[in-house]
Amino acid sequence: MKNPNLKQQVDSRRTFAIISHPDAGKTTITEKLLYFGGAIRQAGTVKGKKTGNFATSDWMEIEKQRGISVTSSVMQFDYEGKRVNILDTPGHEDFSEDTYRTLMAVDSAVMVIDSAKGIEAQTKKLFQVVKRRGIPIFTFINKLDRDGRDPLELLEELEELLDIESYPMNWPLGMGKGLEGLYDIYNKRIEFYRPENYGGEAYLPLDENGEIPSDHPLTKNSIYRQVLDEVELLTEAGDEFDPAKVDRGEQTPVFFGSALTNFGVQTFLETFLQFAHAPYAHELENGETLSPYEENFSGFVFKIQANMNPAHRDRIAFVRVCSGTFERGMDVTLERTKKKMKLSNVTQFMADARENIQEAVAGDIIGVYDTGNYQIGDTIFEGKLNVSFEDLPSFTPELFMKVSAKNVMKQKSFHKGIYQLVQEGAIQLYKTYLTEEYILGAVGQLQFEVFQHRMLNEYNSEVVMTPMGSKIARWIDPKDLDEKMSSSRNILARDRFDQPLFLFENQFAMRWFADKYPEVELKSLM
Ligand code: G4P
Repeated sequence: MKNPNLKQQVDSRRTFAIISHPDAGKTTITEKLLYFGGAIRQAGTVKGKKTGNFATSDWMEIEKQRGISVTSSVMQFDYEGKRVNILDTPGHEDFSEDTYRTLMAVDSAVMVIDSAKGIEAQTKKLFQVVKRRGIPIFTFINKLDRDGRDPLELLEELEELLDIESYPMNWPLGMGKGLEGLYDIYNKRIEFYRPENYGGEAYLPLDENGEIPSDHPLTKNSIYRQVLDEVELLTEAGDEFDPAKVDRGEQTPVFFGSALTNFGVQTFLETFLQFAHAPYAHELENGETLSPYEENFSGFVFKIQANMNPAHRDRIAFVRVCSGTFERGMDVTLERTKKKMKLSNVTQFMADARENIQEAVAGDIIGVYDTGNYQIGDTIFEGKLNVSFEDLPSFTPELFMKVSAKNVMKQKSFHKGIYQLVQEGAIQLYKTYLTEEYILGAVGQLQFEVFQHRMLNEYNSEVVMTPMGSKIARWIDPKDLDEKMSSSRNILARDRFDQPLFLFENQFAMRWFADKYPEVELKSLM
């Protein structure tokens, strides 16, 4: 037996991503979680927009030394016997296919929602990807210290827009200036926002009727009665808490809180760790699954981060460990090429800079320094394990650019670069059907910028890119295709597997097409 503690170690892993729309509070809540895990010494070190004090966190130091921004991509800490891995899913201008692919490497997700805004566009997109995986999704409704929308309305919106059952683990007692605390349905207690107003204790247990002593000062507040009524309504008319449904991603436990004032975050973390799934078995290409307890190491590459600093050409391939134990210097096989590789130059994502060597087992993420061997979706395995994980899905791009080489004499390096970057999964490539012009597709603007930069730095090819804006890409069965279907409202193109697709100008153009050719089925990727 290579690692007698493997099962116990794997079972302690909780690997998840936080999905949200920008500004909902993902960074703030991450920081509070890291703080509880003892991974940062002081909250306010991961992001310090106001103070500009970026450099104080342990990661940032490592990041500076390496000149590569990988360190905040995976954050690891221990909490109450669990080893927690948080995978970052960048939003804003950093949004890219990597953001989606990161969701293929987690065992659960936390959705952070701004209580004043409800479900926003990016949350919805990321949610759909998680939902298709059928993994647990937990919801944290944030910014309770501000006036937000009615909690019942928020739950309704969640269920309607996302088509998922919800179960409130706790319920706000007021909000904004009137926030008194949380009525904690799951833990059967009140959690006070300002304990000093109620004798200093943070928690007050509920009696068997779900109430607190009738002489308690909180009972004088009309919000208390209102919440009792609401909770009664919720428990009578709503769904029951069902951990099996949570496991299958069919029910989302909902928590309320305020990340900024650190209220409700620890309650959330503890309950989350209890119900979030330990590493799952992973699907193989041959339809079988691989147990995380298999003692031979295996994993797949879900993200490749190129160094944007021209002085350091190295890249890091992010590998989700799917089985066994990673050991520094171990030999593995890269399934696609059958090439033997030594995993010596590997970075792990440390909770604490002091502890340099930690074991990585199924559920953990390792960063392998790469000189160009790996592609997204690659499987690596130890010994004779000889497995191949399912391909990662492709995501329907939404932004498009026409691209060509600036210097027509340099077509060779242009083509080499473009094909390698497409292979690697950095960007998607299409050609117009008749004229064979190159079109790049991406889910986020950042992908174009990285593409342009890497073409110049790695392939010495200066590219000219002409924005085409956002389009709706839909694939069509080649047998249904008639070139006359192309119009001024869509562009007919083919993907790199020669499959035809239309790039529609907008929803209207797509609907017009669907009305005109009702028998033609239009398909999107994931
Ligand atoms: P993100 O990573 O999801 O983009 O959100 P982030 O945590 O950066 O939070 C976005 C803004 O919302 C920040 O304010 C942050 O302080 C605020 N915020 C986060 N959680 C809460 C909360 O529970 N209550 C309230 N009232 N605000 C919250 P900012 O002014 O844009 O940034 P900063 O200058 O404070 O960093």
